[in-house]
Amino acid sequence: MRNIVITGGTDGIGKALAMTYLERGDRVIVVGRNAEKGFALLAAARDMNAGERASFIQAELSLVLENKRVIEEIKDRLPALDALVLCARHYRSSRMVTAEGFEDNFALFYLSRFVLSYGLIELLEKADNPIIANVAGPGYNLSAIQWDNLELARDYHGGAALGQGGKLNDLLGVAFAENNKGSRIKYALFHPGIVSTSFSGEYDESTAAHITELKKHGKSIADAVAPIIARMDAPPAEPLSAFVEGERISVEHEAFGKSAARRLYEMTLSLLMERISNGQT
Ligand SMILES: NC(=O)c1ccc[n+]([C@@H]2O[C@H](COP(=O)([O-])OP(=O)(O)OC[C@H]3O[C@@H](n4cnc5c(N)ncnc54)[C@H](OP(=O)(O)O)[C@@H]3O)[C@@H](O)[C@H]2O)c1
Repeated sequence: MRNIVITGGTDGIGKALAMTYLERGDRVIVVGRNAEKGFALLAAARDMNAGERASFIQAELSLVLENKRVIEEIKDRLPALDALVLCARHYRSSRMVTAEGFEDNFALFYLSRFVLSYGLIELLEKADNPIIANVAGPGYNLSAIQWDNLELARDYHGGAALGQGGKLNDLLGVAFAENNKGSRIKYALFHPGIVSTSFSGEYDESTAAHITELKKHGKSIADAVAPIIARMDAPPAEPLSAFVEGERISVEHEAFGKSAARRLYEMTLSLLMERISNGQT
């Protein structure tokens, strides 16, 4: 029995992954905000006689402190962690800043994944073939990053925040692999394609109309999840890999450059330190 933690596991791709692993006999912890959705997933797990292997942690993952609490709860509950699956995401047409002072999309889509990836290393190292699956949007568009405007304090646009977030996650993977040379943990980045999910978010009118179209034409969740599961079952030998709709893409590309990844890693640490020293986290 493997131990799997899935953020954003109460809906969409994360939920489908959770149900698949429960069906397989694994132990699954899902993390999400909405308690009703969490309890519904637990009820579904009981219906398939997997109730004792399923659990739910309710958390607001856009807050660093909440991520730290989640890490401690996971450490209390599991002796080892085989897979950490990162799926939580929430679109915002209007810029919002968290109580800790971070732009919300940056905090949830990137910072949460940073804190959880590094915070769970020790537990992952106790598993036989540990993997971190970061489901975002790997690709070659390094210019999506506004280095002097990481939290989009100027010219905010939800699409820009999302696009940048995908690229930040690519660099998170690069830096993680560099910082953990010799580790058995594999870091795999996944772009599922356009998938007809709930598209968690708060949308202005024109974006909402666009999302309705995406939901109509997107692939099914089952079709999106199958290649992710297959790759997670047999990850490449390399510490870092990336896939777009099941196809492996090269990370030997300047968009996955080590210096950009190091730069982001250092900026992230100093942002965390700065807010910590301000007493905000
Ligand atoms: N769908 C697509 O077309 C598509 C395309 C490219 C990439 N992706 C990537 O695939 C991943 C999964 O996307 P999806 O479309 O399957 O997601 P989704 O159906 O929109 O579900 C989002 C999940 O994130 C959780 N979540 C949102 N805000 C949260 C917060 N502040 N704290 C904790 N949990 C929070 C939600 O939980 P609650 O409901 O409890 O809030 C829900 O479980 C994302 O990383 C996304 O970037 C998706």
